[in-house]
Amino acid sequence: MEGSRSYSADPGMRETQLVTAGFVPPPYPYDRLEGLRAEAAGHPDGRGLVDLSVGTPFDPPAPAVIAALATSGTERGYPNSVGSPRLREAAAGWLARRFGVEVGPAQLAACVGTKEWVATTPQWLHLRRPDRDTVLYPATSYPTYAMGATLAGCRAVPYGELAAVAEEDAARALCLWVNSPSNPTGALTDLAAAAAWGRARGVPVLSDECYAEFTWDGPPRTILEHGTEGVLAVHSLSKRSNLAGVRAGFYAGDGDLVTYLSEVRKHAGFMVPGPVQAAAAVAFDDDEHVEVQRQRYRRRLTLLAEALGTSVPAGAFYLWVAAPDGDGWGLSADLARRAGCLTSPGEFYGPAGAGHVRIAVVQPDERLAVVVDRLKITA
Ligand SMILES: Cc1ncc(COP(=O)(O)O)c(C=O)c1O
Repeated sequence: MEGSRSYSADPGMRETQLVTAGFVPPPYPYDRLEGLRAEAAGHPDGRGLVDLSVGTPFDPPAPAVIAALATSGTERGYPNSVGSPRLREAAAGWLARRFGVEVGPAQLAACVGTKEWVATTPQWLHLRRPDRDTVLYPATSYPTYAMGATLAGCRAVPYGELAAVAEEDAARALCLWVNSPSNPTGALTDLAAAAAWGRARGVPVLSDECYAEFTWDGPPRTILEHGTEGVLAVHSLSKRSNLAGVRAGFYAGDGDLVTYLSEVRKHAGFMVPGPVQAAAAVAFDDDEHVEVQRQRYRRRLTLLAEALGTSVPAGAFYLWVAAPDGDGWGLSADLARRAGCLTSPGEFYGPAGAGHVRIAVVQPDERLAVVVDRLKITA
């Protein structure tokens, strides 16, 4: 970066712009919901707030995973930054079982949940390729893709369709993000096309697959099914195993990229705590608890989609509802008042999403039933 120039996100969250002043972190999206929270909590039927805003799991983790947290005996020493052999074997075993994909030990490494990985990877890629300064990410998406570019002092450039990415932007790109199933839309991405696009241009494709187990339209999928060259898949136990509080994930794929990133991350001190690594290995070894969770989300999506007259998405556990008049904040306010539920205005996921609302079906069935009931009464 020259002189005092840096890139910063605007208060509306996403449009990254060149500024001459120092970086001012924008308000955290969910911190902007306080007014709506009070409105929803004050619903006159007295049954309280139903929080469907943040995608934080409500359901319990598997007991064997929690037991492993307390019994690993790993508290004393520093853990491996790359992940213990046991954790990496379990993660690789899950990839093989779930997706039929084989990765070697040098092709997979641990991360401390995936948000930190999403937020920091652009700066490591930029250090390696200072001649490139652009992060490409889906126009309607998880806000941390754009924030990672900003934190790296780079350009965050949204794309609608891959075919519409300008070749000048591709030539400057450090990476291209894909997210399938998508938060917030639930849409599935053509991962074969994304891998091919990146390889043709020498742009690493980073595939955020943290909702991969929650795919409703066909089987779970990973970009690694289309080869590992030039691509990384990023996985998390936060959603798969209701473990957002323990912070465990991994990235896998291109051996050269994994080696580079895991070496940098070791220098920077990123380590998944030992007890968490032990628990994560137990979680990756087990698929039964995931099947139970899949059924819960599927049931809740159907329940709420019917009540709102919308359809179940292709994946993930969000309903992405179009506001009748194109005003997402207005629809969120209406749902807070009528149904006592807190939802996320689509603008949190980029200006292209401003006409929608995201509803996370993370609350238990009986709380969703309260929302459905209130909607019926006010219909
Ligand atoms: C698309 C996407 N990627 C990554 C994350 C980060 O999850 P975690 O840091 O818990 O692994 C989230 C969390 O909501 C997400 O929705």
